[in-house]
Amino acid sequence: MEGVERMEGMGENKLMQARKIEEKGFAEVPKESRPAYHLSSPVGWMNDPNGFSVYGGEYHLFFQYHPFNNAWGPMHWGHCKSKDFIQWEHLPLALAPDEEYDAGGCYSGSALEADGEHVLVYTGVIDRYLEDGSHDYRQVQCIATGDGVDYRKYEGNPVLTGEGLPEGCSREDFRDPKVWKEGEYYYMAVGNRGAAGEGQALLYQSSDLKQWEFLCILGQSGGEYGKMWECPDFFPLGGKQVLLVSPQDMRAQGYEFHNGNNSIFLYGDYEESTYRFRREKAASADYGLDFYAPQTVLAPDGRRIMVGWMQSWDAKLMDGRFGWSGMMTIPRELSLQNGRVYQNPVWELEGYRKNLVEYTGERVAGEAAVFPGISGRVIDLQVEITKFQFHHFAIRFAKNKDYEMLLQYNRQRNCLTVDRTHSGLVRDVVCRRKMDLRPMCSGGEEKLKLRLLLDRYSVEVFANDGEKAMTSLFVTPMEADGIAFETDGEACINIQKYDICV
Ligand code: FRU
Repeated sequence: MEGVERMEGMGENKLMQARKIEEKGFAEVPKESRPAYHLSSPVGWMNDPNGFSVYGGEYHLFFQYHPFNNAWGPMHWGHCKSKDFIQWEHLPLALAPDEEYDAGGCYSGSALEADGEHVLVYTGVIDRYLEDGSHDYRQVQCIATGDGVDYRKYEGNPVLTGEGLPEGCSREDFRDPKVWKEGEYYYMAVGNRGAAGEGQALLYQSSDLKQWEFLCILGQSGGEYGKMWECPDFFPLGGKQVLLVSPQDMRAQGYEFHNGNNSIFLYGDYEESTYRFRREKAASADYGLDFYAPQTVLAPDGRRIMVGWMQSWDAKLMDGRFGWSGMMTIPRELSLQNGRVYQNPVWELEGYRKNLVEYTGERVAGEAAVFPGISGRVIDLQVEITKFQFHHFAIRFAKNKDYEMLLQYNRQRNCLTVDRTHSGLVRDVVCRRKMDLRPMCSGGEEKLKLRLLLDRYSVEVFANDGEKAMTSLFVTPMEADGIAFETDGEACINIQKYDICV
């Protein structure tokens, strides 16, 4: 944690206090209690990814952070960096809520390199009582610049307030700026709540990151996709344009969305000269139980990489038993294929795969087929089903005699279910989620491909080469590392398993 000494001369302020707590807590958390190859909170609470950016030739990822305990509290920005998206180095936390305009929290935002400096753009929450006793609660946009370790808030903050917002736009729910550069201008998409209480994303323009001009409402929920749009992101992908948002208060629509907080891809065409985004389709960004507030970065090689918070506001499963609480998904490369946004783990993960165990053309009939060497909790497991004479096919994993996680494929309904009912939970949280999934056709044959990334207390399932993802946490004991396959008929499967060694 190099920055602590560097700022010692600045006196004992909120930032320094938080950095000291962080350094001490980080050293005390046993490494084995953490995910091995997913970014986790150094100590205390973590939520949304923030400021996912490239600076000084490295990937920087910040996050919503409360290092003082394992519950959400006044928001700081935690910070880490990586050369390859897999090994993350923790840096001292970057922002503390220490100004009048952000005393209620330094909420989510983004980052970019501008004129050689690393610029963080975040939401400051003003939360105070005025002399007349009234409550002044507003969200405003702020910037801080730095060198990749230490950041200084701009003396002209806030750079954007709700004063100039169009009629009906909320000043209280006006947050999570995503900034990018296009030609000579900077653009900012901000989440907002409209007059009818519906979610929307607003678009702004600036030539210096300090003066912002409102351009238009980029997209709106239209009563279909939630009340407040959090954490907007807006980027081109495969000839189309994607508006990625995390709506609150959504209503389930079949298996496509679920109640509460969701993250969705809206995609369509964007006419840059008029700033008009015409959406064609909407789809869940993830179909599991724990995924929210994703954000993307454009890597120097042109890949669009997305990372999400691997938790859900409605089922806060990581209860802090380990001293840290919260982790991110594996960074995922996005692509547009067959009219969908596909996502796959970054290829860099493959460099950490060791000890391949492989089975080809195995027949599974009846209960609990186990295969020597197919087990583990820090693994990359690929299962291909090539024969479908069954109603149900199950993979039970992170399993011992008492606990397990379950993935079940229903052949009639063409649907995949993740089920953590028996995963060691002692709270009545949501345990099951389903998604539509058809086998792929390859070489005239049907095939269902499932890639499972397990990292101690989490699973990310990538189906059919990234067509859909399903992300969930579970808490079966660490020694529960068994994997078994089961069907009520007959299946034929190929299995590949690697340990991930970081
Ligand atoms: C999304 C969110 C953001 C906000 C942050 C606060 O999970 O609610 O809208 O900026 O978390 O921690």
